[in-house]
Amino acid sequence: MKKILITGGAGFIGSHVVRRFVNHYPDYEIYNLDALTYAGNLENVSDIENKPNYTFIKADITDASVISALFKQHSFEAVIHLAAESHVDRSITNPLAFVQTNVTGTLNLLNAFKERWANDFEGKRFYHVSTDEVYGTLGATGLFTEQTAYAPNSPYSASKAASDHFVRAYGETYKLPYVITNCSNNYGPNHFPEKLIPLFINNIINNKPLPVYGDGNYTRDWLFVVDHAAAIDLVFHEGKNHETYNVGGFNEWKNIDLVKLLCKIMDAKLGRPAGESEKLITYVKDRPGHDLRYAIDASKINKELGWKPSVTFEEGLNFTVDWFLNNQQWLKNVTSGDYMNYYTDQYINRV
Ligand code: NAD
Ligand code: DAU
Repeated sequence: MKKILITGGAGFIGSHVVRRFVNHYPDYEIYNLDALTYAGNLENVSDIENKPNYTFIKADITDASVISALFKQHSFEAVIHLAAESHVDRSITNPLAFVQTNVTGTLNLLNAFKERWANDFEGKRFYHVSTDEVYGTLGATGLFTEQTAYAPNSPYSASKAASDHFVRAYGETYKLPYVITNCSNNYGPNHFPEKLIPLFINNIINNKPLPVYGDGNYTRDWLFVVDHAAAIDLVFHEGKNHETYNVGGFNEWKNIDLVKLLCKIMDAKLGRPAGESEKLITYVKDRPGHDLRYAIDASKINKELGWKPSVTFEEGLNFTVDWFLNNQQWLKNVTSGDYMNYYTDQYINRV
């Protein structure tokens, strides 16, 4: 497989996946398809935009005819599908947008892939990137395995669960060769500052309140984004067709403990007195349907493919905080919306 379509490659995780594939596989042709929504930012991949094996396509996966035409034009042999509406709070305000992108958009890609290869799928692959949120919530104990029943609780996770089911159904019905990974919470450079870690880093820098939902006793399993990209590379090349792999950080944190750790790290880096940033913590109204705990059993990908996280949480979080402190212009651009001008400057006004 040499011609690979990566969707959502201007977003947080997608940009790390695109960078990895462009740099590690110079003989592959990497096409990054992204609609450049509020979450898509070409500055995230500006370091590789002039590489000979990289092409950017601005397109919307909800547009079936455009997606079908692109497959006919380029004959993508493989898809790594990350494009999605990804923020739970936005899904609570506008569920339909999540159905359109995450469900209909995924179906458009499946249909275009199927139509192009006319069921001759030898050597082809459709890789669907999903989330642990499809499994719903855990109590105080236990882990999500690949056998855990789907029980999504938010419109976001319901839309991701639906897309997973469609991918699986195309595998059963049309023998479409797919793999799915369900990953835990990512963190790292380029994370959009609406999600917990980058939002709180930005607010600490600017001395703004840190809005902790409910009592803060919710648990997430955090994974450094570069390690997720490495897992995707491995599963893409060595995962078995029609299989699902869970990916996680072996790294559970209660939100309030994580926020306090972040405050401590940032006080030290910003030269503030110990305890200063913690004063910004403000308990706010809880997220409706808030999942209590996510924790991944990643033993399948570990045992079968040899994957494990390469950095500790301490290393990853320190690296991430340093990245945000050194890239405050990036933060200013994404919070002001100025990055939206990048595409016009780079691609429309280009001479
Ligand atoms: P993100 O919101 O940062 O990026 C999503 C990207 O998709 C953006 O570049 C956006 O412009 C693009 N996009 C959105 N709608 C589109 C459309 N209609 N057509 C084309 N492009 C469109 O998301 P992320 O956090 O990088 O997540 C990427 C994928 O990984 C998602 O499928 C998400 O469900 C999954 N995932 C995320 C996490 C996490 O912790 N962030 C964990 C597990 C799985
Ligand atoms: O588990 C994987 C999922 O992780 C991905 O599929 C999603 O795309 C990604 O957004 C993420 O979902 P979460 O809802 O877990 O992430 P978020 O950063 O929004 O919230 C993390 C926890 O922090 C959650 O318990 C809610 C809480 N929170 C979040 C925000 C934004 C707060 O307490 N305050 C906040 O302001």
